Amino acid sequence: MDVRQRIEELKALIQKYNQAYYDQDAPIISDVEWDALYHELVELETAYPAYITEDSPTQKVGGQINEAFSKIKHLSPMLSLSNAFSAEDLRAFDVRIKKEAPHATYVLEPKVDGLAASVRYEKGRLTLGITRGDGTTGEDVTHNIKTIQTLPYMLSEPLDLEVRGEVYLPKKRFQAINEDRQKNEEPLFKNPRNAAAGTMRQLDASLAKKRGLEIVLYSLGSVDDLKGNTHMETLQKMKDLGLPSQAYAKHFDSIESVIQGVQDFEENRHQFPFEIDGAVIKVNERNLYDEIGYTAKSPKWAIAYKFKAEEVETEVLDVVFSVGRTGQITPVASLAPVMVAGTMVSRATLHNEDYLLEKDIHIHDQVLVKKAGDIIPEVIRVLTDKRPSHALKVDFPSVCPVCQSTLKKEPKEADWFCVNVTCEAQVKEKLEHFVSRQAMNIETFGEKLVALLYQKELIHTIPDIYRLKNHRDALLALEGFGQKSVDTLLENIQASKNNPLEDLLFGLGIRHVGKTSSKTLAKAFGDLDALKNARVEDLIAVNDVGEVMARTIVDFFKEPDNQTIIDELRSFGLRFDTDVVASSFHEKFTGRTFVITGTLSAPRNAIKSHIESLGGKVTGSVSKNTDVVLAGSEAGSKKDKAIDLGITVIDEATFNTWLGEQDE
Ligand code: IVH
Repeated sequence: MDVRQRIEELKALIQKYNQAYYDQDAPIISDVEWDALYHELVELETAYPAYITEDSPTQKVGGQINEAFSKIKHLSPMLSLSNAFSAEDLRAFDVRIKKEAPHATYVLEPKVDGLAASVRYEKGRLTLGITRGDGTTGEDVTHNIKTIQTLPYMLSEPLDLEVRGEVYLPKKRFQAINEDRQKNEEPLFKNPRNAAAGTMRQLDASLAKKRGLEIVLYSLGSVDDLKGNTHMETLQKMKDLGLPSQAYAKHFDSIESVIQGVQDFEENRHQFPFEIDGAVIKVNERNLYDEIGYTAKSPKWAIAYKFKAEEVETEVLDVVFSVGRTGQITPVASLAPVMVAGTMVSRATLHNEDYLLEKDIHIHDQVLVKKAGDIIPEVIRVLTDKRPSHALKVDFPSVCPVCQSTLKKEPKEADWFCVNVTCEAQVKEKLEHFVSRQAMNIETFGEKLVALLYQKELIHTIPDIYRLKNHRDALLALEGFGQKSVDTLLENIQASKNNPLEDLLFGLGIRHVGKTSSKTLAKAFGDLDALKNARVEDLIAVNDVGEVMARTIVDFFKEPDNQTIIDELRSFGLRFDTDVVASSFHEKFTGRTFVITGTLSAPRNAIKSHIESLGGKVTGSVSKNTDVVLAGSEAGSKKDKAIDLGITVIDEATFNTWLGEQDE
């Protein structure tokens, strides 16, 4: 391939990966792989400058602007930083700096892996929070920025100023959020950065508040006399104003001590309360900045040193195939235990057959393991040159490892399924799920008891749980069970009959229906029979229910075995309705007071009449009597006030969905 072709190929790849990273918050390659591609492109473009085009990713700051938010122009462009990957790169940076400014000294800061934001204060009051966007224009995320506890709403002095920094989720918060999402069967965030980015994109600020966003500030704009002469002084000034400035900054006189400092950061990267993916090195003396200068993308007086992802070598001891509750077969590598990113790892999911084939994993292979987003262990690749002669190729099974029935796969899908609904593994997983805390929460009923009762042939289906009271003697005969424990168990089972619909719905284990969706469905339909009779289009009309979930739900209730289960549960007296106040579509409008603000695609009067025709009222100003604020683009103080008062704020897209539901 010639150079030009390779450049085109690299540009296309990087553009694709940038889109996934910046716009969908869902990276498809690791940062290290991205850096390697980017680095290759920079090298080729440096060697062949004639091939540099304006649309090259090296010529612009990544990230598009999200249409859902108002756009705000930055006071000055939010630049990026060029990267260093080795001590050599840092020494070369030092040589470039010293040519322009022989007496420069350096500040070293951790590179927080979050997303850049600019925050404005007017007369000492926080008025605006903006994402970086494309560097020139960002998105108005004031409502979410205002939820950051450490960011003062009022400064001690009535100053006009702009501060910049990185919004992030502390690692502890991130872990708690993902644990919750796992329990609720919601997709996990890949890393804290994605979780923070996803949170900043929410229109509803209560989510950001709940998740606990934080910010660390590294620059102070607009007010020159406030900044001091050095970057260290700027950080101190921000701190004096009560702003959460970078607290881990260190001042060094020479590049060799900077390099030592970078190594210290890298060795201790897991001790920081936030995820760091590198270190930033900046010239300390601010009067040298203009002399040293800028490129179109970044200042020349600073550089980002990127850490290598921590990759650890270990041996694959075995590959086992687990059968999930829905019959999904997942290959799992059992590994010789190793420490990766601060925790012991002994298993890693291999996802599906395609992944297994692509990585070509053999038992006894040496593999490199890392933790994706510092939580989920992942096999990166096999060290094929270390493959021992006794390595065993792993074939994906054609039959279920537990019940031996033939596995099935839908065309174009990656996962194989055991479709035998009586498969022991699936049945046990289903029962365990039903009694689990997130579902029916039947205390004293856990994995061990499910296995024991299954083995004694006392439970095979969900309704069998409610028949256990007819088997007192058999329960009393179980090892470790006495009168008291049997009574408690049966009482707990009996009490679960009163659980609201969302618990039962989640407990039934319908594919794609997690805890949050169960709540949404319970709220929208009110009782199980209404849900059972819903058509695909009825389901899709509910916010957050997509076509795939809708079809799975309809298919689930069509299945005769499932109908039997539901009929039996009804005969045992389980509750089929919910405590959640049913918000029938009418109740979104009837008797509610709306305020319309910002620019909308329809004339305000037309929207007003529409709301009124549905029983709502429209007023001009936001007060505690307002129920909903419909905020178009460029919405200003009314939206802010609504957020401050904790009033529901919806955008036009949500409003249209509400109207759509109404038309059903
Ligand atoms: S200084 C002119 N300092 O890394 C750019 N950036 O790769 C000023 N970042 O866009 C940035 N921690 O989002 C700076 N201590 C730190 C940082 C930091 C994280 C981010 C920031 C920036 C990106 C550059």
